[in-house]
Amino acid sequence: MAHEHGHQHGHHQHGHGHQQQQGHGDGLAQMLDLDAEVLRDYYREVIGWAGSLVPATPRIVDLGAGTGTGTIALARHLPAATLTAVDMDEEMLAHLRRRADEAGFGDRISTVRADLDGDWPALGPADLVWASASMHHLADPARTLGQVFEVLRPGGVFMITEIDGFPRFLTDPAGVAVEQRAHDELARMRLEGGLHMGVDWGARLTAAGFTLAGERQFDIELAGPLDATAVRYAQVTLGRSAERLAGRLTADELAALTAYAENAADRDDLAVRATRYVWIGRRP
Ligand SMILES: C[S@@+](CC[C@H](N)C(=O)[O-])C[C@H]1O[C@@H](n2cnc3c(N)ncnc32)[C@H](O)[C@@H]1O
Repeated sequence: MAHEHGHQHGHHQHGHGHQQQQGHGDGLAQMLDLDAEVLRDYYREVIGWAGSLVPATPRIVDLGAGTGTGTIALARHLPAATLTAVDMDEEMLAHLRRRADEAGFGDRISTVRADLDGDWPALGPADLVWASASMHHLADPARTLGQVFEVLRPGGVFMITEIDGFPRFLTDPAGVAVEQRAHDELARMRLEGGLHMGVDWGARLTAAGFTLAGERQFDIELAGPLDATAVRYAQVTLGRSAERLAGRLTADELAALTAYAENAADRDDLAVRATRYVWIGRRP
């Protein structure tokens, strides 16, 4: 896998955005791209849902766009849309621009580098603001919701999707146990890092003046044997977890996780299990 040497703050390890060092490197970028590819049915459904809520030629803003999994899928699904992808990480935006050009959407997608915990550049008026797995990174949820409200046109929608952690891949009892240990420890690290996990964004949207227009939980299960892309996702995720949890799991647990990552391609009992949450707020 691509390594992340020199990264002090992994994706779910760091504190709030403004404390985050730049340059996630290819590790996170690779994970995000694999996530979109492996969970494509979920993405298709959510993107379709978003598309059903906007006018024919929508202006869309993707907050914390990362590698542009959302931006590019939205551009593909909505051929008349123009999109602005915002992220603080220049490497992510460069990756996004490359992908957008390759897909032929370069002229409809612009990128803006900004720290969303600071002052926002002019982003509106937008018909759809999309934030996928990025709201939990931002320091002040109430402030962010207020800013999104201002960016939206009246009637515009804010679609928040969130995760509760990495997907799980292991199904044998020993694997389930060590993966659970890793998940528990990663959850503790996110909590220590001040990330906003497990937030009821529906309640937050309402408190910020939005009308809650939709709320859904997706329980995703892909049975094995997995295809090569999903196996790669398992390898990258388990490997990254082991790297990140050095010093927080026992040596035996770390060795087991690393072995599962290294031997993923030889196993036929891996599966993918993930939960995703979606909320839609409409600006009255
Ligand atoms: C988990 S990734 C999600 C990427 C993408 N939305 C997706 O679903 O694949 C979170 C992204 O939010 C960005 N981010 C975190 N804090 C930020 C901040 N304060 N301002 C701008 N972007 C931020 C990170 O650089 C990263 O690309």
